[in-house]
Amino acid sequence: MANQMAKRVTKISPSILSADFSRLGEEVRAVEKAEADYIHVDVMDGHFVPNLTIGPPVVKALRRITPLPLDVHLMIQRPDEFLTAFAEAGASILTVHVEAVVHLHRTLTEIRKMGVRAGVSLNPSTPLCLIEPALDFVDLVLIMSVNPGFGGQEWIPQVLPKIKALRRLIDGKKREIEIEVDGGIKVDNIELAARAGADVFVSGSGIFGTPDYAQTLKAMREAISKAYSPPRTQSSQRKK
Ligand code: DX5
Ligand code: ZN
Repeated sequence: MANQMAKRVTKISPSILSADFSRLGEEVRAVEKAEADYIHVDVMDGHFVPNLTIGPPVVKALRRITPLPLDVHLMIQRPDEFLTAFAEAGASILTVHVEAVVHLHRTLTEIRKMGVRAGVSLNPSTPLCLIEPALDFVDLVLIMSVNPGFGGQEWIPQVLPKIKALRRLIDGKKREIEIEVDGGIKVDNIELAARAGADVFVSGSGIFGTPDYAQTLKAMREAISKAYSPPRTQSSQRKK
């Protein structure tokens, strides 16, 4: 059908940055029960971003309490020095920032050699061309829709064209690469991100800041599925 998007498997990855850390296990189980697909873990070092969060011990503790893939987002300088520690702690996906890595091919290859899926992330102002050569050896590309460092920020919709351009590049490659969008994603803008071509949606405050996680995830899935519905024509609108 004209203009209808090909159906893709989409996933929701709640970011524990906005969870209640004093009850982290319960929070993770609650989003698991709400049918989250991944658990997004934001690692910050106070250098690459102006904030500090958590390290491998927390990933190890999470690995014991949930079967969900742990989607570990490394917002740190010199990530190569910590890859083994995060892999041994149980990370399922390790995403490094292209802005923090000198030898991207080496870093992504090292991650994959450890049996972990390799991701690369771009800040909102970083152009797509920097990761184009990596599309032959990466499993996930994370497009930041806020400047990384904090949860609860407003998204930057100007990154949508970058997601669209990446979608075209990946579709041309015929390789399985997920496009993840991260920052300020909520029920009311997730459809736009899906329409642009994202497959994995990270949301922190958009989930943990709401009273009923199951209801929020359901509303997010419904909004995502609208991106795949046939476009409404004038005649179909008149029939209502
Ligand atoms: C930002 C982090 C995001 C953030 C998402 O630096 O990488 O994962 O926690 O949180 P929200 O959805 O609240 O923007
Ligand atoms: Zn993140």
